[in-house]
Amino acid sequence: MKVLVTGGAGFIGSHTVVELSNAGFEPIIVDNFANSEKSVLEGIEKILHKRVNSYEADCTDSAAMDKIFSENKGIVGVIHFAAHKSVPESVNNPLKYYSDNISSLCVLLRLMKKHELNNLIFSSSCTVYGVPDILPVTEETPIKPANSPYGNTKKICEDIIKDFIQTNDFKALALRYFNPIGAHPSSLIGELPIGVPTNLVPFVTQTAAGVRSQLTIFGNDYDTTDGTNIRDFIDVVDLAVAHVRALQFLLNKSDNKLYDVFNLGTGTGASVLEVVKTFEAANHIQINYKIGPRRDGDVEQIYANVAKANTVLGWKTEVSLEESLRKAWNWEKRIRQIV
Ligand code: UD1
Repeated sequence: MKVLVTGGAGFIGSHTVVELSNAGFEPIIVDNFANSEKSVLEGIEKILHKRVNSYEADCTDSAAMDKIFSENKGIVGVIHFAAHKSVPESVNNPLKYYSDNISSLCVLLRLMKKHELNNLIFSSSCTVYGVPDILPVTEETPIKPANSPYGNTKKICEDIIKDFIQTNDFKALALRYFNPIGAHPSSLIGELPIGVPTNLVPFVTQTAAGVRSQLTIFGNDYDTTDGTNIRDFIDVVDLAVAHVRALQFLLNKSDNKLYDVFNLGTGTGASVLEVVKTFEAANHIQINYKIGPRRDGDVEQIYANVAKANTVLGWKTEVSLEESLRKAWNWEKRIRQIV
């Protein structure tokens, strides 16, 4: 039961590779290591106590991808994580996002058709809901115009898959992630942002480690309980397990055509300040932070209704915010060699 995992050395990809293997699948990693490190492969293999097949290749490279598909007969599904994911970078360099994130999906779909593979799981994002009118958001919540080129590529990719299924026997699920955080409990894999992190939790852990001198909380004048933004922070291992459930769901469906979307979050919102305070309490450490101005493009609050994933996929989150932030800190301490 081989599963091709593009972006398998990335944050969510690496944790999913571990959970796929734990569930009896044989993951095959494809990664161009543009935003991940080869040491991740060692971490995965240490956790699993076995070798994992991996390829260094770019998903936009059709010839290289074709060769990988040809060399690996018996692939049952593809999980497509590989994509650029920085909101601010996408604003500054939209063509990089439109070109790579969209063409990599098109390359994969063409090759899956050629190799007669018809089960795809696509990494989408809650960003497709834009600024939602009603909370929590369900999968029926209307899609809004994206607030960044990155967000727009997620919407366009969902549309491409839907259109492809119109004329091809193909099954796909788009998983809309909320805010993934945390690390593996072994501290052997975790989030490895390159350069200054733009996401909250890596910035918090790097501030705790002294790599950054101060965290800025982007605004405390929002119409929320404590004035800071509210997000749905989901532990990366819970998220990884959801991919295994989603794949099993697809494989059990005998339909020729299937397209569906699932929200993957905890169902509970937490404010930015609450994350900082929970991190401090969970790890007995103070974070040097200040309140700064709002960040452009931030949505005031968003969190998921996850009833559909709970009932249809038989999946629910298990890791608390506190536990997830403890794991994030243990991982940061390990990579910085802090005892
Ligand atoms: C954004 C995207 C999401 C995407 C993710 C990828 C939107 C609405 N969401 O999530 O789709 O998958 O990026 O990276 O476009 N914050 C601080 N200080 C910091 C960093 C963050 O206060 O130094 C705050 C932000 O203002 C925000 C919250 O923390 O309220 C979470 O921010 P972040 O981790 O960047 O994720 P999102 O912007 O929610």
